[in-house]
Parts: sequence; structure tokens; C-alpha cells
Amino acid sequence: MALITGAAQGQGAAEARRFAAEGARVVVTDVLADGAAAVAADLGDAAVACPLDVTDPDQWAEAVAAGLDAFGRLDVLINNAGVGPTPRVIEETTLEDHRRTLAINLDGVFFGIRAVIDAMKAEPVRAAGGGSIVNVSSIDGIVGVPGMSSYAASKFGVTGLTRTAALELGRFGIRVNSIHPGVIASPMVAEAPAAIRARLDRLMAAQPIPRMGTPEEVANLALFLASTESSYCTGAQFVIDGGHLAGPPREGLWTDGD
Ligand SMILES: NC(=O)c1ccc[n+]([C@@H]2O[C@H](COP(=O)([O-])OP(=O)(O)OC[C@H]3O[C@@H](n4cnc5c(N)ncnc54)[C@H](O)[C@@H]3O)[C@@H](O)[C@H]2O)c1
Repeated sequence: MALITGAAQGQGAAEARRFAAEGARVVVTDVLADGAAAVAADLGDAAVACPLDVTDPDQWAEAVAAGLDAFGRLDVLINNAGVGPTPRVIEETTLEDHRRTLAINLDGVFFGIRAVIDAMKAEPVRAAGGGSIVNVSSIDGIVGVPGMSSYAASKFGVTGLTRTAALELGRFGIRVNSIHPGVIASPMVAEAPAAIRARLDRLMAAQPIPRMGTPEEVANLALFLASTESSYCTGAQFVIDGGHLAGPPREGLWTDGD
């Protein structure tokens, strides 16, 4: 069984659908309870929905219990829930915004890892290849980005948590990896102000793969990391960004541009 956070829409919903299509049982969770219920209803017997605000450890305990109750075991956790705050330079970022970003994007991942460890230590999970935790960071968890200090701090934090958890949990057969998406065409981006979307479009045009990624493409990577296809991967960062971080665009610098 896979428990996915922030799965009412965007990448989390795409992961729920992809995992169910592969035969997995899915616990679809989100702070948007109705949205999570709608995604789970589409998946029929393969899924149950559970409201989960990732900042609340008590709700984590309830969601894990609901999943175990429904499906008997917990093999995979996708820590996907996250928020992108309004871009502001550091001196204009409010403490409230900063703390909210860290509470959801970083504390939420910490609480999630803690909540599933016991269930993932169980013998049937181990016998089937061991548990897998996939934490969704960002390319902003690898390089800094002006105007997004709290977001970048939260996503760099996810990278550190991922590596540490991998070191601590390897002995229980639990693998822990992070995903680092570039710009993905989910509601988080679609609902951004028009001026920001226009800047993102210009950025995308300069990438080796000159477009935004799709939630389904990220779901494919999450599926690989969730499955035993990735049995030798742990404590690692998986970038999925259309080549965005490969290097700055310098076409024609050392060649004639042909
Ligand atoms: N879209 C991008 O360009 C992009 C790039 C890099 C990383 N990411 C990361 O990918 C993840 C998924 O984002 P997305 O693109 O699908 O965005 P999205 O906004 O479409 O989906 C995020 C989901 O998280 C949920 N959520 C927010 N706060 C929550 C909370 N406290 N508890 C539980 N759920 C909560 C939302 O309700 C929503 O369903 C996030 O962690 C995001 O930071 C997104």
C-alpha cells in the first residue's frame, strides 16, 4: 500500500492514479478532504481517502491507522504535499509566511517519516523488498532562487532529512530518496499570477527540453523509486527538470551556434 500526501490534485493525484494503474493500493490524503475523496472515488476499490494536514502529527497517526485498517500494510510513503509561497525577497518575507512554508514543506516530511517507520519495519513489507519513502523536494532544494528563501530552505531541508533517514533506516530495509522537480504544470504553477507564468515560460524556452514537465512524468519517477526496480537506490537525489540545472544557457559561446 502507498500513502500519498497532497494527492487531491497536481503531482500527488497523478501519482495516486499511476500507482493504482500498476496495481497498488493507495491511501489518498490531502488537507483538501473533498478533493482527496474525489480522486479516491475515481480509483474504486484500489484507494481510500483520508483527510491529512501534514503539519499535525495526530492526523498522521490517524491516516496511517486508516491505511493499515483498509489494506493491512504500508510499503510506500510519498511525501508530496507542499506549498509555494508568494515570492518575496528576504527582507519582505513575513515570519508567518516563513514558518508556514517550513511547517508544511519540512515539518510535514519529518512527521511523515516518523509516522510510517513502525509499519514499514513489519516483516511482510521487508519480505516484499522493504519500505520506500519518497520525499518531494525541488530544484530549489539544490540551488538557491531569489525571492523564494523560505521555500528553498524548506526544500534543502528535505534533502538533508532524506539522506539522514536513509542512513538511519537502511538497517530496516527502508529506502529513502528525494525527487527534485523543475517547473511542473500542476495547479501550483497554473494558478500563479500571469506575470510569473510569463517569466516561467521564458525560462522554459531556454531549457534543453523547452517546456514544463507534467505531473504524470513526475509520477513515473515516483513509481520507479517506490518499486523494487530501484532496489539499489537510497539517500539519493533524483532531478526531473528538463535539463534546467544542467547549466546556464550559453549557446554559441564555444561554437558558432550550429
Ligand atoms: N509544480 C512545480 O513546479 C513544482 C516544482 C518543484 C517541486 N514541487 C513540489 O511538488 C509537490 C507537489 O506540488 P504540485 O506541483 O502538485 O502542487 P499543487 O499545489 O497542485 O499540489 C499540492 C497539494 O498539497 C496540498 N497541501 C498543501 N498544504 C497541505 C497540508 N498542510 N497538508 C496536506 N496537504 C497539503 C494541497 O492541498 C495540494 O493538493 C510540492 O511539494 C511542491 O513543492 C512543485
